[in-house]
Amino acid sequence: MAENKMEKLIALCKRRGFIYPGSEIYGGLANTYDYGPVGVELLRNIKNLWWDYFVHARPDIVGIDGSIISHHKIWEASGHVSGFADAMVDCKHCKARYRADHLIEHYLEDQSESQIKALAENIEIGLETTDLRSSKRKLQNALRNKKVEGLAPKELGYLINYLPVFCPECKIEPTAWTSVRKFNLLFPVQLGIVEGEGGMGYLRGETAQLIFTNFRNVVDSTRVKLPFGIAQLGKSFRNEITPGNSVFRTIEFEQGEIEYFFNPRETDWEYLFDEWKRTMDQFVTGKLGIKSENLRWRRHTDAELSFYSKRTEDMEYKFPFGFKELWGLAYRTDYDLARHMEASGQELVITDPKSGEKILPHVIEPAVGINRLLLMILIDAYTEEAPSAGSGQANRTVLKISPKVAPYKVAVFPLLANKEALVGKAREIFSELQKSLSVSFDDRGNIGKRYLYQDEIGTPWCVTVDFDSLEDDAVTVRDRDSMQQERVPVTALRDYFLSKLA
Ligand code: GAP
Repeated sequence: MAENKMEKLIALCKRRGFIYPGSEIYGGLANTYDYGPVGVELLRNIKNLWWDYFVHARPDIVGIDGSIISHHKIWEASGHVSGFADAMVDCKHCKARYRADHLIEHYLEDQSESQIKALAENIEIGLETTDLRSSKRKLQNALRNKKVEGLAPKELGYLINYLPVFCPECKIEPTAWTSVRKFNLLFPVQLGIVEGEGGMGYLRGETAQLIFTNFRNVVDSTRVKLPFGIAQLGKSFRNEITPGNSVFRTIEFEQGEIEYFFNPRETDWEYLFDEWKRTMDQFVTGKLGIKSENLRWRRHTDAELSFYSKRTEDMEYKFPFGFKELWGLAYRTDYDLARHMEASGQELVITDPKSGEKILPHVIEPAVGINRLLLMILIDAYTEEAPSAGSGQANRTVLKISPKVAPYKVAVFPLLANKEALVGKAREIFSELQKSLSVSFDDRGNIGKRYLYQDEIGTPWCVTVDFDSLEDDAVTVRDRDSMQQERVPVTALRDYFLSKLA
C-alpha cells in the first residue's frame, strides 16, 4: 500500500509538472531530476520560508552564499577527501552496485522482533572462526537497532553474507557478493587546462564547509557577536547510488545549513541543542504544516557518532519506505574551525571585547535537504477522497499542502471560456490578485476538470467568475479541503486571501 502511494505520487508529480526525470529525452540520467513549472514554485516557497524563518526573522543569524566549486584543500582539511565515502558492494552475477548499509537496513526493517533477537544471538557462532570476533557487541547492537552506520566495510560484508541479503535486481539466491569497498562521494573538477593538483577543485559535498572557511570574513565584516549563526542555502553534490525514491537522495540537491557558533564556557550546549530541536519542530509542523504523528527524533548511537560530535540527533519523517532522516542536528564542538585553522594557518578565533580572551567557538549544526522537505510535503499532503454519499461528486486526489508553501495560492476561472465578458472580468481579477499573491489562470475544459487539476497541484482556493459576477461584482470562492463555496465581493478578495494566509 505504502509503495503504491509512492508510485502514484511519482506519477502525479510528472503528470502535473512537479518533478520530471533528469535528461529524459536521452534515456534519463540516474539520480537526477528536473523541477517543472509547479515544482519550481513549491521548491522556491520552501526555500523562501526557510530563509525568512532562520535568517530574516532572527537577529542572531546572517547568511552567506559560498561558491559551489572550491579549493581541494578545504575538503582535505574537513576530512571529506579521506573519509567521505559510502561502502559499496556489487552482485557478482548481474553487476548491480548497492550501498551496503542500505541493503542491510532494508533487510532488517522487514524482520520481526523475534527474528532480530535470533539473528543477534546466533551471530556469535559464525564469528568465532573469523578475525571479527572482537566486533561481536558492535554487530549485535547494529542488528538490534536495525542501524549499521559506523560499521567498517569488513563488518558490513560479514552481515550481508550472514543474514543473507539477496540481490534485489537479479534475486539469485544465495547472491555472490564482492567484498565491501569504500567509494568517495566528492566530485572532483579539473580547473584550467593544466592537469595536476594545482588545478584541482571539488564540487562542494555540503554547504557547511563554506561557512567555516568564511567564518573569519563574516566576523570581520559584520557586527555579529557570540552566540550567532551563519546560514547558507544552496546546491551540494554527492556521487551516490540511490534506491530510486524520487528526490529523497540524489547526486545534486539543495541544503539549508546553519552553523550556530557559541562560547562553550558561556553557553550550555545541551540547552542550546534542545532549543534547536524545538525550533526545527516548529518550522516543520507550524510553517510547513506537517502532521506531527509522522515525525520523530532519533539519537545517534555511540557507533554512529562522529568522534568529534558529543550528540547528534535526526528528525525523521515517516516516508512510505520507512522512517528516514529528514534533518540532522549535530553538536560538532570546535572540530571544523580547528581543522581549518590548522590547515590554513589562519587565526579563526574571536577575541572577547571585554576580557580580551581568545575564543575558538563551538557549533551546533542543523542541516536539512530542501528537496527532501519537498518530497515530505508532497507525501504528507497526498490524499485520495471518496465522495460523500449522494453528493454526485467523483473520487478526487488532492494535495492538502499548507497554503504557505502551495505552488499557487489561488486559481481564477471564467465560468465559460467563450464568453468575452466573463473572461475579461476573470483576467482583471487575476491581474489584480497577482500583485500580491501567486495566482494561476485557467479557462480550459469545464469547471469540474479545472477543480480536479487544481486539487492535484494543491491550490488552496479557486475563484469562479460567473454571470452573477457581472451584476453583483462578487465571485464564488471554493475551498480545496472542505470543498465549501462562498460568495466574496471582488473588492474584498485580496484581503480575504491575505488574512487566510497570515
Ligand atoms: N553538514 C552536515 C551534512 O551535510 P548530512 O546528514 O550529510 O549532513 C544533511 O546532510 C541533510 O541533507 C540530510 O538530513 C538530508 O536532508 C540532506 N541530504 C543529504 N544527502 C542528500 C542527498 N543525496 N539527496 C538529497 N538530500 C540529501
